[in-house]
Amino acid sequence: MRQPFVLLIAILLFTFIPIGTALVRAQNPPALAPADAPYKNAKLPVENRVADLLSRMTLEEKVTMLSGSGWMESAPNARLGIPAIKMADGPMGVRSWAGSSAVTNAANNPVKVLTTSFPAGIAMAASWDTDLVQREGKAIGQEVKALGRDMILGPTVNINRVPLWGRNFEGYGEDPYLSSQLGVAYIRGVQSENVIPSVKHFAVNNEEFERHRIDVKIDERTLHEIYLPAFRAAVQQGDVWNVMSAYNKVNGVHCAESEYLLNDVLKKEFGFKGFVISDWGSTYSTAPTVNAGMDLEMPGGPPMQAWLARPATQAAGNSDGWLVPEKVLADVRAGKISETSIDDNVGRILRVIFLSGLFELPHTALGEVDTPAQQALARTAATEGIVLLKNTGALLPLDPAKVKSIAVIGPNAAVARTGGGGSSLVRPKYAVTPLEGIQKRAGSGIRVTSALGVGMDGEDPAKDTAEERLKALREAADAASKADAAVVVVGRYFKNEGEGFDVKTMDLPAGQDELIAAVEKANPQTIVVLNTGNPVTMTKWIESTPALVDMWYGGQEGGSALASILFGDTSPSGKLPVSMPKRLEDSPAAKNYPGQDLVVHYAEGIYVGYRYYDTKNVEPQFPFGFGLSYTTFEYSTLKVNPGSVSGDQPVEVSLQVRNMGKRAGAEVVQLYVHDGHSKIDRPTRELKGFGRVELKPGETKTVQMKLDRAAFSYWSPESKTWVAEPGTFEIQVGASSRDIRLRAPVELVR
Ligand code: BGC
Repeated sequence: MRQPFVLLIAILLFTFIPIGTALVRAQNPPALAPADAPYKNAKLPVENRVADLLSRMTLEEKVTMLSGSGWMESAPNARLGIPAIKMADGPMGVRSWAGSSAVTNAANNPVKVLTTSFPAGIAMAASWDTDLVQREGKAIGQEVKALGRDMILGPTVNINRVPLWGRNFEGYGEDPYLSSQLGVAYIRGVQSENVIPSVKHFAVNNEEFERHRIDVKIDERTLHEIYLPAFRAAVQQGDVWNVMSAYNKVNGVHCAESEYLLNDVLKKEFGFKGFVISDWGSTYSTAPTVNAGMDLEMPGGPPMQAWLARPATQAAGNSDGWLVPEKVLADVRAGKISETSIDDNVGRILRVIFLSGLFELPHTALGEVDTPAQQALARTAATEGIVLLKNTGALLPLDPAKVKSIAVIGPNAAVARTGGGGSSLVRPKYAVTPLEGIQKRAGSGIRVTSALGVGMDGEDPAKDTAEERLKALREAADAASKADAAVVVVGRYFKNEGEGFDVKTMDLPAGQDELIAAVEKANPQTIVVLNTGNPVTMTKWIESTPALVDMWYGGQEGGSALASILFGDTSPSGKLPVSMPKRLEDSPAAKNYPGQDLVVHYAEGIYVGYRYYDTKNVEPQFPFGFGLSYTTFEYSTLKVNPGSVSGDQPVEVSLQVRNMGKRAGAEVVQLYVHDGHSKIDRPTRELKGFGRVELKPGETKTVQMKLDRAAFSYWSPESKTWVAEPGTFEIQVGASSRDIRLRAPVELVR
């Protein structure tokens, strides 16, 4: 009996219950629960178990669960056997870094954890492959468990509103439907392993600029149509167990204390049954936060205190420690928080502990990370995400009969830029650089040379001098001139594209445009490869560039995936999950970014991405949904059934896709809905379905997609519901938002 009491005291002291209270409880502790207590019975319905466990908890024990016990752990309760929820950062793998999230395996401690680095969310999105993303989620779930953790802080489903957000690479691009489907797939994969995902950041977290203080002014329709759907789908389709609230304010209120966002929208409107976790250091009050439905404040305990004491943490605007037991108890006693509200908060955490099986089976570092299967998946994912944007004269795939030497050039050629910066950056055991990938694939029959061309601006100041730049540029031009083809890998890296800051300019970092021009001049057979998360300005070189490939941040297998595409082992099948504007000024949100006096107006409303470019006829550099292949596809036989629908009747859309070329390939077919009769302003088309098919040469397959009533609806702030106006809609099926190949009407009757 002694041991549990000692443990209990330790836990209480650790979680800041005033020493006096802890001593009183130690002298007169509540009894242990009997072995046959209903909450311990895994066969009983979860709700019964939650109710039983809550009924056995003291108020002090309940409030102790509202704040973390450490940097990445929730508070356990030894008396009742409630385990801590042990978290790890995601979403592109299991983050391993100095700090408690790296010390995940007692046997390994303090060895850093090295896990599989999957491609960035934006690259996963470019695959448009929900099955792939679900497999990624599952693999990540397995790695989380292998490290003895229970929860992965991902997926990120915030919308790419402006091409400068430092974290755009983490998310799934600009479209709410695509983001929804991929977010749900990730969640399903993670949860299939009984690991808790955290869909983040709720909500409207679309810039890093002053991320703790910025106030997003947004109208209800835009919120519902653009920024909330991925969260709604996570709840309603993915049955997600956890949501992370965002740092920013929305319409004057911090997300962690937004009654509107958390209680009204997430919990009541969407029907969310899991728990809400705060983003790290995003709470600013006690009663308003608890009452708004923010269930677990993170981080907590001594690591939180040490972190908050740092001037830089405070200067950034982080705030925390509001849900520690003494503060919550004081507000309960003062009548500012009801016990019913606490029961709801705690009940949600307990529900997920039961649902995930964590109560019965805490994860105990069983299993392996970075297995050959996980590596293979990372490679498939990186390959599927690559988008071929330009291929004049069929320069790609490289023809081994003609190309006997390749110069691989650029600041991102000989170093693996696996992801953007911040909490999502995973440390893998190995990472294949573009140069290594090409060298390996080229084998002994092709000579591969390399040159830096230009240093990544700011990475090594010694390389940034005018003299060094000139020298590197000359070497690159020389290498290119002596090769049959040149591959220039340009882009950014984790220090100029990442969490905590926005990208300064849409232009490539200093010297890279000049490098492309110089290499192209030296060798007309030049392939430019983009290795970034965000679109970049290409106007200085795109006209004369024969071939352009976007590899995004491809994770640890990015280099091998690139080689597989360049040599034609795989035909590219990625399509852009984000429009690429010609100039930043063309971007609909550019005028309203980053805001003034800490307020940013989302004045462009629902006109985000292609909704803007296509409706307002602004030509992007490359449109949403665009991507070339080494083969061509013919679309035919569009069928919409039934042609007239009422109520909740679904619409089945099918078409045939045929591979017209001589190579196997995959095509991503997109279904847009056009509302030509609306009383209100609507975008010219909106993505409401997609399908990816793999086709052998000459093969034809049928692609089927289903539309429900929501696909025809807009959000009405007046009635606070989705409204589908009866009338004729047009189903548009295409290979990008600007390449509509087939059209058919569908009639919506009441
Ligand atoms: C990020 C979250 C992350 C958390 C924990 C925050 O700064 O915004 O995405 O999960 O830190 O590392």
